[in-house]
Amino acid sequence: MDEARLEFDSMYAAIAGSRVYRQVTHRAFPDLPEWLIPYSVSPSLVLLERIAQSLNIEPDSSFVDLACGMGGPGLWVSERTGASLVGIDFSAAAISAATKLARQRGIARATFVNAEATGTGLPKKSFDGLMSIDAIQFMDARSVATEIARILRPGGIVALTTMEALVDDLPVATVAKDYRAVFKATGFSICDYEQLADSFESDNALFESIDLYRDALVEEIGEAATPMLEEARDRLERAKAPPRVRKIFLVAQLQ
Ligand SMILES: C[S@@+](CC[C@H](N)C(=O)[O-])C[C@H]1O[C@@H](n2cnc3c(N)ncnc32)[C@H](O)[C@@H]1O
Repeated sequence: MDEARLEFDSMYAAIAGSRVYRQVTHRAFPDLPEWLIPYSVSPSLVLLERIAQSLNIEPDSSFVDLACGMGGPGLWVSERTGASLVGIDFSAAAISAATKLARQRGIARATFVNAEATGTGLPKKSFDGLMSIDAIQFMDARSVATEIARILRPGGIVALTTMEALVDDLPVATVAKDYRAVFKATGFSICDYEQLADSFESDNALFESIDLYRDALVEEIGEAATPMLEEARDRLERAKAPPRVRKIFLVAQLQ
């Protein structure tokens, strides 16, 4: 767990101010606004709009972006809906970048907290919604669903993307096979579930873009770029084999 946190943290410390990583993401996700720098494989304006609609939040509401990374996706939803945002991530470097971005965009109703997603420290029954993009697969599924159920108000909605395992021997052991079953067992009813059909194309778009800019990334951020470059090559290689995970969009309501 600590190893994963340190890996994410040093990667965010490297890319947070990176001009080249900004170019990488704009090439991969041309529809996203310039200021929104994700570290995920499925972001698009269509997805963010769908999350905003699914959460059914408005200016009086509050929501969480769980494992928010550098804050862009949650801030976009907060700007779109007017709702207050608390972003959570266990990387201090990500939280620092997210806090800076909120300040730059003048969004005082957003705060970012450096915490573990399965034990956020947030008050119970206090949020109307929760979003999460490409992250809960890194956490014990039952523990994160239990924490989400704890902090949402009854009737609160979770809208997220994640991966489901199609095989037993994935390198990330926490990827669940059936998140609908996990959320149902934790007191949610399922409102929407869809396999993201184009997800592997968008995965490839990011990893192809990282690979294309590899020399520029190394020149700008040095050795810190290595894990990202290795992952990109590995993922492009694996994309040629039959899929071992499916990407999903899930919306569930706490009963
Ligand atoms: C693929 S990134 C997605 C980031 C962000 N949602 C986005 O779309 O840019 C996964 C994120 O999960 C965070 N993360 C992974 N495990 C976590 C945990 N147990 N608690 C809190 N954050 C975690 C990482 O630091 C990273 O920011």
